[in-house]
Amino acid sequence: MSDAAIRIEGLCKTYRGSKGEPEKQALKGIDLTVPKGSVFGLLGPNGAGKSTLINILAGLVVKSSGRVSIWGFDQDQYPRQSRSAIGVMPQELNLDPFFTPRGALEVQAGLYGVPKSERHSDEILELVGLSDKADVYARTLSGGMRRRLLLAKALVHHPKVLVLDEPTAGVDIELRQMLWTNIRKLNEQGMTIILTTHYLEEAQEMCGEIAIINHGEKIAQDSTANLLGRMDSRTMVIVPDSPVTVLPAAEGVKPALRDDGCLVLHYHNAQTTAEQVLESVRAANIRIRDVRTEEADLEDVFLALTSSRTDDPPADDQDRPRRGMHRVKL
Ligand SMILES: Nc1ncnc2c1ncn2[C@@H]1O[C@H](COP(=O)(O)OP(=O)(O)O)[C@@H](O)[C@H]1O
Ligand SMILES: [Mg+2]
Repeated sequence: MSDAAIRIEGLCKTYRGSKGEPEKQALKGIDLTVPKGSVFGLLGPNGAGKSTLINILAGLVVKSSGRVSIWGFDQDQYPRQSRSAIGVMPQELNLDPFFTPRGALEVQAGLYGVPKSERHSDEILELVGLSDKADVYARTLSGGMRRRLLLAKALVHHPKVLVLDEPTAGVDIELRQMLWTNIRKLNEQGMTIILTTHYLEEAQEMCGEIAIINHGEKIAQDSTANLLGRMDSRTMVIVPDSPVTVLPAAEGVKPALRDDGCLVLHYHNAQTTAEQVLESVRAANIRIRDVRTEEADLEDVFLALTSSRTDDPPADDQDRPRRGMHRVKL
């Protein structure tokens, strides 16, 4: 038996354009293997294709081409087995307002053919902290409670793989804690977890392995430790004594002149020392009035990873990472 929980090969998805819109190639040949037992992070900015990938796994979106197997079951050959191996907490709050949490879980269990004797609705409601709301209509639940219910629904058929699509986007701290506690607990019990997020910090904290996708392509996949090790870019900002006319040139150093006259030098800590950067500045006859270095923030790292590997134009403004937030968004 394969030790991959999920194996994806050459996965493509093109959405047909509606109402005169052009078609959209949301996934452009993704290869991805998720090891059994891992907490795996799928990271990427808005519009990268994360939900499309998740929804294909969940059987909610039909792929255009490629192969997907879940717990060793090819999705096309063994649709029933592959579907029952996975539980998905979707990004959208798609709940029937006229069901109670208990009712929703019973219906879900029925859909997955879980026999009555094997249902654990009360236990699952307890796990997600919804016991006291078990019998109220979903429409009376708060947004946070609806998310809890979505998680509960994903768990009714005891899936081998639990997939959470942006579980913490816009949720309060308490719910976030509950999610992380449950994810850790379920993983310790042997469940493979895949989560998407655009919070790098979050992936860092939770995931042993991370894949980064952008514009429908995988641009990196590695253990979290290795990925962080690669994120060693630095920026040196120099205030020159007089206007800079010649930019410094040194291997591994990318110089740029800012509008305010400061010289900004990007380099990688592992390859280039601050001393070498300074030497290149002196060699260009630039006298230094002031200097400081900045660690790359995660946004820079992400931009560095994406800029060299894609020919696509930059994302729209709304897709652009925002600076200065407490939790750094890609
Ligand atoms: N149903 C759809 N029809 C057409 N385009 C879609 C549809 N769903 C998503 N897209 C487009 O596909 C791309 C990837 O979207 P999505 O998978 O939701 O990304 P993410 O979850 O990473 O934000 C986006 O450009 C989005 O606009
Ligand atoms: Mg999404």
